[in-house]
Amino acid sequence: MSQLETLVSSEEIKAAVEDLARRIEKDYQGKDVLMLGALKGCFVFMADLLRDLRLPVEIEFVMLSSYGRGRRSSTGKVKLIRGLNVAIKGRDILIVEDIVDTGASLEFLLNYLRVKKPASIKICTLFDKPSCRQVQVPLDYVGITVPDRFVVGYGLDYDEKYRNLPCLCILKGD
Ligand code: IMP
Ligand code: MG
Repeated sequence: MSQLETLVSSEEIKAAVEDLARRIEKDYQGKDVLMLGALKGCFVFMADLLRDLRLPVEIEFVMLSSYGRGRRSSTGKVKLIRGLNVAIKGRDILIVEDIVDTGASLEFLLNYLRVKKPASIKICTLFDKPSCRQVQVPLDYVGITVPDRFVVGYGLDYDEKYRNLPCLCILKGD
């Protein structure tokens, strides 16, 4: 039986999202930011973050996969399941991630984007698991640092479940 234990409450998440929004607003004054989410995990965070931003924003998504269905650790092999179908040359890109674990997905995404010659690329992640990092990636905005535990909720899943939890929970047992 799986058991859920709250790690980060919905109130703490809300405060972290607001804090990130204020920092992003300051840095992107006068710019037209293109928020780029890596599906599926980012969708809840991105929806809350963009409604908090007092900036002209556009959104796009790519879909990556590294955790095969039902896995609790990254396979390390990142696949692009759905790429971009808009030009990003000269655009200011803000990658929006749910959580950074090994860093492999972001490294893959950065390489995919850089050859398309955007004006800038910054990374915003709500959750960070720095103890799991295998590839160093430059994180410009980090919301909440979490321990090396498998977590679900607020967009994050286990086997496609639990994304709808309003808080971040540790999934115990199986
Ligand atoms: P990375 O490539 O190892 O950094 O993994 C990044 C992606 O794996 C994240 O964007 C999540 O979608 C997923 N992921 C990483 N850690 C967790 C977790 O604890 N629970 C659920 N999904 C996770
Ligand atoms: Mg993700």
